[in-house]
Amino acid sequence: MSKISLQNKQNLIFLTGFMGSGKSTLAPILAQKLGYNFIDIDEEIEKSTGKSINEIFMESGETGFRKIEQSLLQNASKQSECVISLGGGTITQVENLQLIKSNGILIYLKTNVDSIIERVKQKTDRPLLLDIHGEVLSEEDLRNRILKLLEQREPFYQQADLIIQTYNRTIASTVEEILQWIHSLQK
Ligand code: S3P
Repeated sequence: MSKISLQNKQNLIFLTGFMGSGKSTLAPILAQKLGYNFIDIDEEIEKSTGKSINEIFMESGETGFRKIEQSLLQNASKQSECVISLGGGTITQVENLQLIKSNGILIYLKTNVDSIIERVKQKTDRPLLLDIHGEVLSEEDLRNRILKLLEQREPFYQQADLIIQTYNRTIASTVEEILQWIHSLQK
């Protein structure tokens, strides 16, 4: 298959969406279909600091985490022909959103609260969804936390070039829809 060109840009595709929306699962599959490379910003953060996301939040708080995240995003944005899986909050910094929009195409994997809860409950690797002692929240508190964050973030997610629903469907069908949309850009 000849490589897809996204025109004018560095052939970068950024995937955004709430925690548990499937970005990290979908990104390598999409990259492979396009013959592109794949970068997961959270993995890059952990590799470059030698610390887990939880440790970074514990030591430096969300502000410290966002600074590291921004610098890794800046590095990733220099690549070409790459699918970049963002963290769920990366686009909430205006400078990040501007950088993403001026360097590539932004796709929002939109899901619903119930699917998010199913995917994240019992997990302890997302500090924003834990209580102050690092313990999992009750389902009611988790739902309220997610709803609040979603409300704050939705205006940022809505800046995406493509918004695609991911709940109640297979990864393969979501990837197929994204590929069809990318092909429609070639015309
Ligand atoms: C965050 C999402 C996480 C990770 C960090 C903060 C967020 O990534 O970057 O815990 O602010 O939504 P995933 O969306 O890959 O879980």
